[in-house]
Amino acid sequence: MKKLSIMCDLMLRLCRKSLVVTGVILLQFFMQGVAHAEDDDLSSETKACLKCHDKKGEEKTLDNHEKLSLYVSTKAFKESMHGQTDCEDCHSDIDAITHGKAKTSIESKRAYTLSMGESCRECHKKNFAKYEDSIHAARVKEGSKDGRKDAPLCADCHDPHTQPSVKIHQPISATPCAKCHEDIFKAYSKDVHGLERIAKGKGAPICGDCHKTHDIKAASFGDGIKDACLGCHKNAVVQHKDWLPNAERHFAAISCPVCHAPDAKRQVNLRLYDNVGNHQISEKIGVPQFEMRAQLADPTNMGLDDRALWSLLKEFNQHDGSDGKTILRGRLEVHSGVEAHQLAEKSKALKDCNICHQYGAEPFQSVTLTIAGPDGRPLRHAIKKDVLNSMLTMNSVRGFYSTGGTRIKLLDTLLLLVVVGSIGGTFLHMTIKLVLRKVRERRAAGAIVAGEHALPGDHRSGDASK
Ligand code: HEC
Ligand code: HEC
Ligand code: HEC
Ligand code: HEC
Ligand code: HEC
Ligand code: HEC
Ligand code: HEC
Ligand code: HEC
Ligand code: HEC
Repeated sequence: MKKLSIMCDLMLRLCRKSLVVTGVILLQFFMQGVAHAEDDDLSSETKACLKCHDKKGEEKTLDNHEKLSLYVSTKAFKESMHGQTDCEDCHSDIDAITHGKAKTSIESKRAYTLSMGESCRECHKKNFAKYEDSIHAARVKEGSKDGRKDAPLCADCHDPHTQPSVKIHQPISATPCAKCHEDIFKAYSKDVHGLERIAKGKGAPICGDCHKTHDIKAASFGDGIKDACLGCHKNAVVQHKDWLPNAERHFAAISCPVCHAPDAKRQVNLRLYDNVGNHQISEKIGVPQFEMRAQLADPTNMGLDDRALWSLLKEFNQHDGSDGKTILRGRLEVHSGVEAHQLAEKSKALKDCNICHQYGAEPFQSVTLTIAGPDGRPLRHAIKKDVLNSMLTMNSVRGFYSTGGTRIKLLDTLLLLVVVGSIGGTFLHMTIKLVLRKVRERRAAGAIVAGEHALPGDHRSGDASK
């Protein structure tokens, strides 16, 4: 019996082994077939190119002595998303007769990249159009004169010869943004989202999820980024309302990192704003009014004081169409781009109303005036930090101030600037009346809130002692 069972066992094992062997042989056969098929996928033209170009270490010296690698790996090319695309689909300007025989001259790597810039348009019309609407494309158009950093073209973010599927999950360091925005990448990789992304993969945002990847806009322009945050954190407004009165208003006047990057320096940004069209005012291309007017108002470049700011706004209102169109909108923001990427977990976020709602509060100690530049990035002019308070001494706003006196002083200041900005001749009276009515309404609401939360900023005598 025992012998029989051993025999059976042996037979079985043999059977299994031969099955595995046949399997392996079959698999090898199949793989060869696939490999053949893949090889055949490359057109004879492409194969001809690769005959010369699949050579490691081959280089061409450019006019500026940079070395351009001529190496294209057949294997990597076949595995890439362009494995089915012919070299000549992108390199259509290559002359089959003279190419490779005579040396041609190329100025620099950048010049070569620029000369190939159009090659992606044909097949990727949608992304190309988006890209052309980006701050990167605007920057490329301007040229990289004055030693400014180069902005990316398609091929700076996608190696056309090795591009893998974007669906394949990559480590965060593979994001093309990292190589140019190094400091921001470093900060991001250690903040809540970077760490979450490293630990759990997709879900937590990487650069493109907040900024988009192709139609990237200036980060501080408009509400694009805030909308991206709220797109994922759909309950954020409700969650903040639990403890923060009028969360929407706070969200409109404070950029999210101000509270969520607890170690950041903060500042007030007074943005020039079109009160009629309801958008930030942009500097017109070729007409640099902002700098000229700021220079006029502040000839010594010491920072605008209250009067200078006043006259600057008057300039904008008198020369650019309707009266009272240009106003200032205050916004709290973090001081640098790096700090915007140091978001901490929620337990560390600013919750103490005192941080903002008291006399001399830290975020209000640094003030800057901005207009959106032609590419959306802010052009800045320094403002004397006491402008927010010294505004109160101005004749035309004194009445308003005393009416708003029981409100939080700093809020007054922000609101006040909005009013100051919108003054234009006869408009003044109407505006003040209107604002006063709004203030009265809000005070009623604010008083209820303040009662509930015992808002420190409301007790101004207490603040003054600080
Ligand atoms: C006979 C070998 C050979 C073949 C075939 C060949 N190349 Fe080249 N290629 C070269 C050499 C050599 C250079 C460097 C020329 C120089 O130094 O100016 C070069 C340069 C290039 C460059 C760098 C830019 C430039 O114009 O100098 C590109 C791009 C390129 N080849 C693409 C291709 C493509 C696409 C094909 C197929 C259509 C191809 N090559 C076929 C030898 C070859
Ligand atoms: C999807 C478009 C596309 C395809 C397909 C393509 N190339 Fe390119 N190639 C480019 C672009 C764009 C550049 C410029 C890259 C840059 O700016 O660094 C380039 C650059 C090159 C260069 C210069 C060195 C370098 O890498 O920058 C060589 C050589 C080259 N290609 C050869 C080939 C060969 C050979 C093939 C086919 C096997 C091929 N290319 C297929 C778009 C393509
Ligand atoms: C600043 C870097 C950057 C530039 C410039 C860039 N891309 Fe992308 N692109 C990315 C990143 C990152 C992804 C993957 C993640 C995503 O889609 O958000 C991507 C995804 C893609 C995809 C696949 C996903 C999709 O949207 O279909 C295509 C195709 C593409 N890019 C083509 C292009 C073309 C064409 C250009 C030039 C007009 C270009 N890209 C310029 C970074 C860039
Ligand atoms: C001749 C047409 C053609 C040209 C030109 C071309 N591509 Fe593509 N590209 C393709 C095809 C086909 C795919 C395969 C995936 C697909 O269907 O989108 C692809 C895929 C991609 C992907 C990956 C998309 C994904 O979903 O993973 C990127 C990124 C990309 N191309 C960028 C570029 C860039 C950058 C250029 C210019 C240097 C370029 N392509 C030029 C045809 C082209
Ligand atoms: C969670 C969303 C988010 C992610 C992810 C993110 N950013 Fe930002 N980014 C912001 C915010 C918010 C700002 C500040 C905008 C403002 O001023 O209101 C900003 C600002 C910027 C700026 C402008 C900096 C300046 O000096 O004004 C750049 C450049 C930038 N980010 C690049 C990146 C890069 C590169 C990555 C990836 C490594 C990245 N961002 C990831 C939200 C994000
Ligand atoms: C080849 C280098 C390069 C790459 C790659 C690159 N950028 Fe940029 N980026 C620039 C340059 C140059 C500017 C212009 C502003 C400057 O000089 O910092 C810019 C501007 C920006 C701005 C506007 C900054 C502001 O002040 O508002 C954002 C946002 C941005 N990039 C995000 C990204 C994201 C997201 C990626 C990856 C998808 C990326 N960049 C990839 C070079 C690059
Ligand atoms: C005035 C400061 C402040 C502002 C402005 C602010 N937050 Fe918060 N946020 C907090 C505090 C404090 C918490 C923690 C609340 C708690 O746990 O009790 C928090 C919690 C959160 C949470 C975690 C919610 C939960 O309960 O799990 C998210 C997500 C969040 N904030 C996103 C945002 C976004 C997005 C913005 C901008 C639109 C923003 N926050 C603006 C202070 C702020
Ligand atoms: C692509 C989706 C996405 C976007 C866009 C996004 N987040 Fe997040 N965020 C997450 C995920 C996922 C986590 C980690 C899980 C969690 O705690 O909810 C997270 C965590 C957080 C936390 C920590 C919450 C905690 O419980 O400690 C804060 C704060 C936060 N995000 C704020 C922001 C802000 C501010 C922005 C915009 C500047 C933003 N998020 C944009 C997905 C996103
Ligand atoms: C990071 C700074 C900051 C913090 C922290 C903060 N606030 Fe505010 N708050 C502001 C700013 C700026 C405004 C002005 C918004 C506007 O009207 O444009 C404001 C407006 C208000 C208003 C008036 C809203 C209205 O309807 O006009 C009230 C009430 C208020 N805050 C209460 C609080 C309370 C209570 C807390 C603490 C739980 C708090 N705030 C925390 C900055 C802050």
